[in-house]
Amino acid sequence: MEQKKKFYITTPIYYPSDKLHIGHSYCTVATDCMARYKRLSGYDVMFLTGTDEHGQKIEEKAKEKGVTPKEFVDQIVEGKGGIKDLWKLMNISNDRFIRTTDDYHVEAVQKIFKELYDRGDIYKGTYKGKYCTPCETFWTESQLKDGCCPDCGRPVQDAEEEAYFFRLSKYADRLLKLYDENPEFLTPESRVNEMRAFINQGLQDLCVSRTSFTWGIPVEFDPKHVVYVWVDALFNYMTALGYQNDRYHELEHYWPADVHFVGKEIVRFHAVIWPALLMAMDLPLPKRVYGHGWLLLEGGKMSKSKGNVVDPVVLCERYGVDAIRFFLLRSFPFGSDGVFSNELLINCINTDLANDLGNLVSRTVAMVMKYFGGTLPKEQEAGPEDEELLALAGNLRAAYEKEMEAFAFQNGLTEIFKLISRANKYIDETAPWVLAKDEAKRPRLARVMYNLLECIRLAGILLTPYMPGSAEKILDQCGALPEERTWESAEQFGGLRSDVTVQKGEVLFPRIDVQKELAELAAKKEEKAAEAAAEGPAPKAEIAFEDFEKTDFTVCKVLACEAVPKSNKLLRFTLDDGSGKERQILSGIAKYYKPEELIGKTVVACTNLAPRKMMGYDSCGMLISAEKGKKLHLLMLDDKIEAGAKLC
Ligand code: MSP
Repeated sequence: MEQKKKFYITTPIYYPSDKLHIGHSYCTVATDCMARYKRLSGYDVMFLTGTDEHGQKIEEKAKEKGVTPKEFVDQIVEGKGGIKDLWKLMNISNDRFIRTTDDYHVEAVQKIFKELYDRGDIYKGTYKGKYCTPCETFWTESQLKDGCCPDCGRPVQDAEEEAYFFRLSKYADRLLKLYDENPEFLTPESRVNEMRAFINQGLQDLCVSRTSFTWGIPVEFDPKHVVYVWVDALFNYMTALGYQNDRYHELEHYWPADVHFVGKEIVRFHAVIWPALLMAMDLPLPKRVYGHGWLLLEGGKMSKSKGNVVDPVVLCERYGVDAIRFFLLRSFPFGSDGVFSNELLINCINTDLANDLGNLVSRTVAMVMKYFGGTLPKEQEAGPEDEELLALAGNLRAAYEKEMEAFAFQNGLTEIFKLISRANKYIDETAPWVLAKDEAKRPRLARVMYNLLECIRLAGILLTPYMPGSAEKILDQCGALPEERTWESAEQFGGLRSDVTVQKGEVLFPRIDVQKELAELAAKKEEKAAEAAAEGPAPKAEIAFEDFEKTDFTVCKVLACEAVPKSNKLLRFTLDDGSGKERQILSGIAKYYKPEELIGKTVVACTNLAPRKMMGYDSCGMLISAEKGKKLHLLMLDDKIEAGAKLC
């Protein structure tokens, strides 16, 4: 028997630091669609997803909650409403789920680290630089943007520690050669240009261990170090198949990966660091890396800290899982950014699903019921209106396949919807209700119905990867037998039996009243915002008295205050803190105060906070304000107290 061709596809493994939002679901839904398409078209598929559970951010979050890091991640990954539940809800068909805290992975990473060290590609040195805690990334001074992390825009901290380094610089030429010789390796093309520019700027060795926190995989031969979370994470793609462990035995079968789907901000890790690590280990490289775009909200990227995340569970419950899966892949080209909005979602459901697809199915099935009692007669007669429809339908699978092979999910759907629109037009052209009035036209009427059902069947098969549940219902309604639902049966027009029996079913995609729905959503949003404002921020975890004592609160007089150019948030204060030297602090309160009204005021600042750069200025401390809901008050004292007095 001929062996099936294999296809190994992965999503990034997600940080279980918060609940996942619709942006995270985007990549997983796309990967699921690709995995299902490949299975449908006869491949032996391995689809891997999972969670990336180590690192300082998780350690800190767990501490805030007063639980151990493992307890914290267990809850987010396995708990009720956690990541595994979300993927189940969204009908994600992953074959495997890896957690980087799984024993087999931990042990494998320790062996890999040791091997890299023994091979001389990891060495011990001292790290000095800037560290972004939320992104778990070290940056050089030149990489910072306005003194902040170039990825997330947040402030970075000075860091210096003994550390292990990976000789990344050694691989610069081989990486450039890889891109030159394999244009398929990294797509879309724009991502390659970014990587080339990144490498040409000078590739430095990569710091691959940390001593400043403990929630990570200990370096076996030097356990005060933990392995840098990205080295730990990237190897998941291989340990999940059995690399350096006995838990699985599929490495030879599935490695190298056929494609890693990743978001654009982590392309650098997958197209520079990952291949370099594999080169260092003399391992085969993944065949392709695809860097998809982001799902944005008006106003930028979704993030928990900005409080603008869209919850996939809420969307799936409100509109149905398939409508959401469909919307994500229909509305945005996979390689580019897209802006999510409720209007776009509702219009997409109404136009494509309720009107075009849903109507085609329900009208056709209703007509077959009405005119033929549900079963078509074999006696059928072709007509001149058929030609264009049949040509389009006969080419559909090939056109769709071409798009899917290029990971162009949106275009794959465009091909299907060309046929759906054409079929709707065909109903108008053939006017079955007129044919039905003439007994002599019954064979023609039967053929018109058959052609419509066949188009629906073809669309149903090819929609299966996008909307598995709804596609099955469509195929049920048009009466397709199991052998009439296969990839092979979609190659040409005419795979459906001519005397097929349809089944009337439920309405597949109910129409949404746009205005009513938008008003309801807006009311809900306001309700939620009011609840959140009433509750205020969650109380912080208890701290020790010694920790509290570490903060230095100083009374300061405002000598000067002005708006920071090009910033609508920041005011720049020049303060007398009683030390005899002026202190500069930037504070994000421009929305609440005019600079001139603050000059001469007596304020309180935390004066032993590490300085940081904001919009090119050094900010040495933090002014204390009180905030609730939309109100903010800068803490001010009367001027009887002198500058330099300490709060106690
Ligand atoms: N843990 C790393 C990946 C390690 S892979 C060896 C990570 N995790 S993440 O949870 O922060 O992000 C996972 C994926 O979600 C990334 O590919 C990221 O691009 C994607 N997305 C997060 N927000 C997104 C949007 N708003 N839109 C699209 N994708 C987004 O990075």
